Amino acid sequence: QTSEAEVVVFSVPSYACQRRTTLENHNAVLTDALALLAENAELSEEEGRGVAFRRAAAVLKALPRPVTSMTELRGLPCLGDHSLRVIKDILENGASSEAESTKQSERYKALKVLTGIFGVGAKTADRWIREGILGLQQLQESGQTLNRAQQAGLEHYDDLNQPVTKADADVISEIVERAVVSVLPGAQMTLIGGFRRGKLSGHDVDFLITHPEEGREVGLMPKVVSWLESQGFLLYQKTTRNSYLESKDGPGRPSSNMDRFERCFSIFKLTEKERRRTKHPETATENGLRTVSTPEPDPHTGHKLWRAVRVDLVVSPISQFAFALLGWTGSKLFERELRRWAGHERNMSLSSHALYDNKQRIYLRATSEEEIFAHLGLEFIPPSERNT
Ligand code: CTP
Ligand code: MN
Ligand code: MN
Ligand code: MN
Repeated sequence: QTSEAEVVVFSVPSYACQRRTTLENHNAVLTDALALLAENAELSEEEGRGVAFRRAAAVLKALPRPVTSMTELRGLPCLGDHSLRVIKDILENGASSEAESTKQSERYKALKVLTGIFGVGAKTADRWIREGILGLQQLQESGQTLNRAQQAGLEHYDDLNQPVTKADADVISEIVERAVVSVLPGAQMTLIGGFRRGKLSGHDVDFLITHPEEGREVGLMPKVVSWLESQGFLLYQKTTRNSYLESKDGPGRPSSNMDRFERCFSIFKLTEKERRRTKHPETATENGLRTVSTPEPDPHTGHKLWRAVRVDLVVSPISQFAFALLGWTGSKLFERELRRWAGHERNMSLSSHALYDNKQRIYLRATSEEEIFAHLGLEFIPPSERNT
């Protein structure tokens, strides 16, 4: 029992981009509950509430050990009344009654199932729920018109709701690399998103493609997509062309947080054959042979020798590469906090394309992430410590 005066208070800076957050989380019970409430708020289109819960969870993720009493939280940033109530409930009763009842609610369960379909967002799910559609079976029987993405999402529902392993991400990296160098020698590809942050699993695999000579990347995406299609790797793809130059965004005034790079949202067909041909150092045995895991038997066909995987491809000109790399590495909260820091603390506007100094009225150049952090007056945080 420590007296009040002896309680050591944690010291945590208020912006997530000022902190080092590794995958090691000493407060998972607390942050899981807050993440669930955040997710519920986001699915209910209450963005502000969602961000508040995410920021509170991020502060707890940055602590060096488990929280054991409310007094330890004194002076910590981003912990609002609501989040504090949730934490108190867990510390006193072992669980958050609000998180538990949310998890059990029909609405939350339906939102989860429906937004688990690729191509279905909170708005669509909400409309369907109001029409009495709570699950996949009801959706299929309802005769709702589904767009191409949603049809593919429904068709590959089980696979796409199965986490992607790092090993499978490596296999896909090799395929994308082959595609990129085949259609444009000298082009470069970088793994981004959660896997660049060192995560061992993810909901998709993200890649950024560029070429060291400015302009050579123009028209690259359709070629990469054709190559992948011709090899039978794509179950679905939707390519959006680059709209940065023609956009009406003023300097540092993007009309939304969506960037304007040429991009492709796709679903890959990853076969056992591809999994076998790619060497994984981490699964190599002493005699150099790989142990190949037997494929998961599919309940419908008996043996399905492939799985569907969501893959995002982005193409950036080399002049914007550092900004694209920083903007697409995540986490989503880390990105949001970087932009908030830039705007509120530095009077600058940061996007995945550029950094604009609103006071000097100039764009600040950068060829590396380190330079962008320096422009922002922030200590460099490596990708593995952006897991907010
Ligand atoms: N991103 C973006 N614009 C989008 C989608 C994503 O800028 N339309 C950025 C996100 O801000 C994030 C990164 O791309 O920084 C990766 O997004 P995503 O794949 O959704 O998340 P991950 O962090 O990779 O997590 P997961 O393992 O669930 O894929
Ligand atoms: Mn630690
Ligand atoms: Mn991802
Ligand atoms: Mn993604």
